[in-house]
Parts: sequence; C-alpha cells; structure tokens
Amino acid sequence: MDQRTETIKKRYDRSSSYYDWMDRMVSDSLREKAVLQAFGKVLEVGVGTGKSFPFYPEGCEVTAIDFSKGMLAQARKKISLAKVPVTLLEMDAQEMTFPDNTFDTVLATCVFCSVPDPVKGLKEVRRVCKPDGQIILLEHMRSENPLMGLLMDILNPISLYVIGSNINRKTMENIEAAGIQVSAMEEHRGKIVKLIVAKP
Ligand SMILES: C[S@@+](CC[C@H](N)C(=O)[O-])C[C@H]1O[C@@H](n2cnc3c(N)ncnc32)[C@H](O)[C@@H]1O
Repeated sequence: MDQRTETIKKRYDRSSSYYDWMDRMVSDSLREKAVLQAFGKVLEVGVGTGKSFPFYPEGCEVTAIDFSKGMLAQARKKISLAKVPVTLLEMDAQEMTFPDNTFDTVLATCVFCSVPDPVKGLKEVRRVCKPDGQIILLEHMRSENPLMGLLMDILNPISLYVIGSNINRKTMENIEAAGIQVSAMEEHRGKIVKLIVAKP
C-alpha cells in the first residue's frame, strides 16, 4: 500500500467512531433510492459504517469492502439491519482481488471523494462488474459554480485532514477517464451530489 493510501486509511480508522454523527452529505431517502436499484450479486465499495445495509432489496447477496478496519468494525455492528446476506472484507478498492466480471451490481456511496487514486479505483469497479451488470454511484463532487468550486478548493485541506474525504473532486471526469458509461444521472444539492447509474 502506498503512503497516500496508508494516510487516508488511518484517517478513516480515526474518524470511524464519530463518522455517523458527522456525516450529513446524503439523506436516507436518496441513499435508499440508490441502494434499492441493486440486484443479484452486489459489491459495495467503501462500505464505511454500513449505512446502506437496511435498504438492500430481497434477492441481493452483498459483498462489502473497505480498507479501514475501524469503519469495518462499525459496519459489523449494523449487519443485522440488512434483510439480505452481507459479507464484509478488508480490501483496497484500487487493487481488488475479485476476478473480472464477478458482480451484477457494483455500488459506491460517497467513496470516490476519498479513494487516493480515484481513476484506478473506478477502473477496478468496471473490471469486476459483469458486462451486462450495472454500476451505481452516489457521489458528492466539486461544484460547477465557479465561486462555490473555489471555496471548496480552499476548504478541501480541512476536510481531507479531519475525515479523509476531498470535497473538490471532479468525479464526473474521473468516471469518464475510467471508461465507465453513464446511462442515467440525477442531480441534488445544487448539482454537488449526483446519483449515477452506469454500464461498465
Ligand atoms: C466518506 S466514507 C463513505 C462511507 C459509506 N459508503 C457511506 O456512504 O456512508 C468513504 C469510505 O470509503 C473508504 N475508502 C476510501 N478509499 C478506499 C479504498 N481505496 N479502498 C477501500 N475503501 C476505501 C473509507 O475507508 C470510508 O469508509
């Protein structure tokens, strides 16, 4: 694991015990809307404290990964909220150990703000998703408004230090650079939060 990845992982280990209290980026109803679209063999990347567990629909079989032991420990406490089987694994999204074309659905919520090399992580998402599968991304990103974008650039070091998350990532560009094909997109919170459904 490179130094940058080790640093971000440690920040999430540190913030894991108060993460739920601090995190207000995505409402439960929007999260539910994203997660309800999952089907079949599901990979949740960067599961965090397991906030999506209650929303998985019947029939899903979920594998959930995170590189932070602290976040995984919090997620373990929420497993009983899921109506479907959930397996937790410690794994780096930038170097997954799954074979190509493994999952029907790959889901990530507020993850590619943190993955140290987001394009590498998104290429892995694409690799492990079956060709006829779907990728669901619920992500916050840099504002398209020039002033707000600049403010996010200025405040980013604080968020990166306190939580481990960047607030100024150009995630749409990263998705495109990874070769993921966006088929539908919904914008929220002044276009800062986007719900994306895509093909690998
Ligand atoms: C902002 S939190 C979001 C957590 C959860 N998905 C949610 O919606 O509440 C980002 C999560 O991604 C994880 N993460 C970041 N980079 C990662 C990587 N390279 N591999 C695995 N997990 C990663 C962090 O440990 C953290 O749990």
